[in-house]
Amino acid sequence: MKLFLLLLLCGTGLCSVIRRDKWHVYDSRTWLEGQAYCRSQGSELLTVVTQSDIDNAYMDPYYAWIGLRLYGKEWKWTDGKKANNGDFVDDEPDANEDCGQAGYNLNKAVGDFCEQRNFFICHHEEDNYHIYNFYIESKSWDDAFRFCLDTSQDLAIFDNWSNYPKDVKIDFPVWTGLYHDGESWKWSDGEYSDFWKWGPGFESGSEMLLNKTMFVHNCSEVFPYLCYTHNVILVKENMTWEEALEECKVVSSSHSHQLLSVEQSELLFANSKAIDAQTNKIWLGLRFLGGTWFWSNGQTVSLPGLPSCPKSILGCGALLVDKTSNGSMPQPTVELTDCSERLNLLCYKL
Ligand SMILES: *[C@@H]1O[C@H](CO)[C@@H](O)[C@H](O)[C@H]1NC(C)=O
Ligand SMILES: *[C@@H]1O[C@H](CO)[C@@H](O)[C@H](O)[C@H]1NC(C)=O
Ligand SMILES: *[C@@H]1O[C@H](CO)[C@@H](O)[C@H](O)[C@H]1NC(C)=O
Ligand SMILES: *[C@@H]1O[C@H](CO)[C@@H](O)[C@H](O)[C@H]1NC(C)=O
Ligand SMILES: *[C@@H]1O[C@H](CO)[C@@H](O)[C@H](O)[C@H]1NC(C)=O
Repeated sequence: MKLFLLLLLCGTGLCSVIRRDKWHVYDSRTWLEGQAYCRSQGSELLTVVTQSDIDNAYMDPYYAWIGLRLYGKEWKWTDGKKANNGDFVDDEPDANEDCGQAGYNLNKAVGDFCEQRNFFICHHEEDNYHIYNFYIESKSWDDAFRFCLDTSQDLAIFDNWSNYPKDVKIDFPVWTGLYHDGESWKWSDGEYSDFWKWGPGFESGSEMLLNKTMFVHNCSEVFPYLCYTHNVILVKENMTWEEALEECKVVSSSHSHQLLSVEQSELLFANSKAIDAQTNKIWLGLRFLGGTWFWSNGQTVSLPGLPSCPKSILGCGALLVDKTSNGSMPQPTVELTDCSERLNLLCYKL
């Protein structure tokens, strides 16, 4: 019973050793500025490899300018009323911040620098009803203020926060790492994914996420963006399986690494990290010994279709990398391989 449970759980990702952390940065920037910011954090603009990269991206939060600003030493609404402590989220605004914004579901203000470009909310009244309009364009506070005036509105004032339309979900674009370098589409991290070509509902040559659909936008437009990190490393050395096992441990002296184990659903991601390999096949930590398959890191093997009794010389598992780039979904497979073959390898950071 216990074994059965374990196998079941493995299929749902609980035995996964691959970590893909992604986060949505709410500050709006141009594509290049977003790339620079992600890199300054040791990450990259997101490479979309599978549909789940998009499905799991939590993109509801946003910030939008409102008519709240620091005048001299005093925070005031643009109609001249003084703001009070209750108008701000705890510990906000930070020192030197001089303009106020509302945040998704916050129901209070947070501070930011006036020159930062943000979405914004204008307000006008119609028949005594408050009408709030969200603008999905990123402007500095001053430009947003002027825009509202020019359209016969005000930058929205929430001196009574019960008027704040706090649960409004707005559909806004978020940069991913996809860009066109003049010749072809590439991902910011230099890694390989054709997802934009075959992913459902994506138009060929698109560049970003909006309601989880990708569209082309001018790189100088200003939007929030998605950064990500992962823990898989391709080692371009030709080694036997045993050598590969040891090599992963010395990839970096400051972190522990092991040969990679994967689940069926992770083959596509592993493939995208192996595309630059010098060999067609890449070592994974899969080994047949004593009548069973096991992963060198001790994980339970949940890959379907492994033979229960392989030919004795084919006792190790390698990823057969699919480098086709013709617009169809890559079909990487695990191939039983002679353990003494010399191949590149995939390691992961623990
Ligand atoms: C704030 O607005 C709500 C609803 O519009 C109203 O019921 C309430 O009395 C107002 N509070 C103040 C302090 O004006
Ligand atoms: C997403 O929004 C775009 C533009 O508003 C629209 O054309 C597209 O059909 C939407 N996609 C989905 C899946 O809702
Ligand atoms: C992108 O926007 C910039 C600045 O607004 C503009 O100069 C440039 O021509 C635009 N590029 C395209 C391809 O539309
Ligand atoms: C590994 O083998 C491949 C293919 O045989 C070769 O192209 C590559 O140069 C080799 N790499 C090293 C580091 O020797
Ligand atoms: C792409 O190549 C693969 C394998 O070479 C082939 O099976 C598939 O039909 C091709 N797809 C297209 C759209 O040409």
